[in-house]
Amino acid sequence: MDFTRNQLMKTVLITGASGNLGKAVCKQFLSDGYQVIAIIGQNNPLEDLFQSKHLDIHSVDLRSEMEVNQLSDELCARYKKIDVAVFLAGGFAAGNIKNSGKQQMDDMYKLNFETAYFFSRQLFLHMEKNNGGYMFFVGSRPAIDAASAVSMLPYALSKSLVIKLAEIYNAAGKKKNIIAHVLIPSVIDTPENRKSNPKADFTKWVAPEKIAQSILFACSEPGSVIREGVFKLYGDS
Ligand SMILES: NC(=O)c1ccc[n+]([C@@H]2O[C@H](COP(=O)([O-])OP(=O)(O)OC[C@H]3O[C@@H](n4cnc5c(N)ncnc54)[C@H](OP(=O)(O)O)[C@@H]3O)[C@@H](O)[C@H]2O)c1
Repeated sequence: MDFTRNQLMKTVLITGASGNLGKAVCKQFLSDGYQVIAIIGQNNPLEDLFQSKHLDIHSVDLRSEMEVNQLSDELCARYKKIDVAVFLAGGFAAGNIKNSGKQQMDDMYKLNFETAYFFSRQLFLHMEKNNGGYMFFVGSRPAIDAASAVSMLPYALSKSLVIKLAEIYNAAGKKKNIIAHVLIPSVIDTPENRKSNPKADFTKWVAPEKIAQSILFACSEPGSVIREGVFKLYGDS
């Protein structure tokens, strides 16, 4: 990590950074000259994939409020100003009304909501002190379309809470120039999706790199006029 970085260099924090979308978002911000703080989980390392003195990698369980608070205090103190935060950690499980009880609800709530809430709460407070910042959250189509939520009820509900959270941050952060945007991908073109839908037309799906470019655009000068964005990144699917 380069502590002698140019003071004009902007800093982005990305959770889920070693996931399919996370890796593309890290690459995009690094190539745009950002200092990148990559937050990863326990399963997929990131070191092997990237060589950059502007990449600072930390592993944490985002469902642990205590661990998250410790790490965010450390990072906010070290970097002084985190300009952009992209909350990508999360995951999917199928489940309909019949087979979705408390356990399934709790699992999805923790995986999608807690992983976004604990860190973003700390970053919201940090951005409030710094008079501004961008936050990006990831929802999903079933969270805004009941018909497609029928076979994935806990997932859809947990992602709808994430979308509501972004709305609340926008209301709370308006006077402090805090802008929260929501990304709503349809199907991302990932190896896992290709494996589980081998007969699908992959060209209709959305490449992680395209999503990364959309995020970067929203942080750019021309994108700075966008407020409360809900980006339906559906491609042709
Ligand atoms: N793939 C799609 O088609 C699609 C569609 C709509 C929305 N989305 C959403 O978009 C986001 C990114 O998707 P993706 O395909 O890139 O998923 P992915 O490859 O599974 O990446 C998700 C990342 O989140 C991390 N994570 C999960 N729980 C964590 C925890 N408790 N603590 C720390 N890290 C944790 C995982 O790290 P570890 O595995 O190392 O723990 C993983 O690297 C997700 O929120 C997903 O729900 C995806």
